[in-house]
Amino acid sequence: MSNAYFVECHLDERLKLVETGTYQGMPTCDINDLGSIKTNLWETPPMNNTIADTYEIAMGRWSRRLSRSFLDFVAAPSCGALVDVGCGTGSLTLAAANRYPDARVVGIDLIPDYLTDALREEASNIELKTGDALSLPFENNSFDTAFSQLLINDLEDPEKAVAEMVRVTKPNGKIAASVWDRAGGLTFIRLFLDAAAILAGVEGEKLREEVFDVPYQDEDDLYDLWSDAGLGDIETATLAVRMDFIDFDDYWQSLMGAHSLIRNFFNRQYADTAYEIQQATRLAYLGGKTDGRRSLVASAMAVRGVVPA
Ligand SMILES: C[S@@+](CC[C@H](N)C(=O)[O-])C[C@H]1O[C@@H](n2cnc3c(N)ncnc32)[C@H](O)[C@@H]1O
Repeated sequence: MSNAYFVECHLDERLKLVETGTYQGMPTCDINDLGSIKTNLWETPPMNNTIADTYEIAMGRWSRRLSRSFLDFVAAPSCGALVDVGCGTGSLTLAAANRYPDARVVGIDLIPDYLTDALREEASNIELKTGDALSLPFENNSFDTAFSQLLINDLEDPEKAVAEMVRVTKPNGKIAASVWDRAGGLTFIRLFLDAAAILAGVEGEKLREEVFDVPYQDEDDLYDLWSDAGLGDIETATLAVRMDFIDFDDYWQSLMGAHSLIRNFFNRQYADTAYEIQQATRLAYLGGKTDGRRSLVASAMAVRGVVPA
């Protein structure tokens, strides 16, 4: 059974696989045992498989959920050509290809390893390409819709990326993007970052600041980004999804794969501090109850606009 199948399953189905021992892929450990934490959670990167598998466990399973409400918000035309910029493992690409079977859906990403054959085979109207959001390898006016999920504010030059999406989109076409609301809306990283800021002193506070310090973390700023790119009919929205974890181990897998700054920070800590931070995060996750399922909210901000005729 592949990890991709596991993360795609409904939570109840995933729990059943774990309970019956059918699923063998997730490392198990006794969280109270520091030795086991070192072996399974601390020194080993999550899943330890391909970059695409790691992304699926950490984030793909959540961005897949976000894709659905993001697509509702974008309200793209049901045929024509769409491009998903920074498509990763293809959460949005696949959702769009399934929703619009008559459309041609192109996913583009800088890192070829995300663009798996499995994704290519999921839908016949998907095309995948390697390329840079800051210099899209497409002619002017190639698409009816250009969108990007969870990329824009991580780029060195978000303005250039939006200009590129505008360039490759036809007049009257739609341009849209979504970004996580990191400080206000990502509960799952907040549990860890607050524990780190309290227990690891200046370094922990610096980590929290760095993770939160990204541009376009506000609907008004996103509106201005779209407006400065010359787009019309601009709308913004906040979209929410739930992150359903099986237990703390499952949560930790997602957390450690979600952001390289978080993973690198944790790996740098001395054993005692790492243990304290992990225990504090665990207590926050547990919320006074026994280990098990938890559902944490994550919110993203989205913007859409229309290329002038
Ligand atoms: C957080 S992931 C989001 C992936 C996907 N959109 C999703 O919703 O799951 C960001 C993606 O953008 C890609 N990326 C980063 N810089 C890029 C660039 N300059 N051009 C194209 N893709 C880029 C990364 O390789 C990664 O796959």
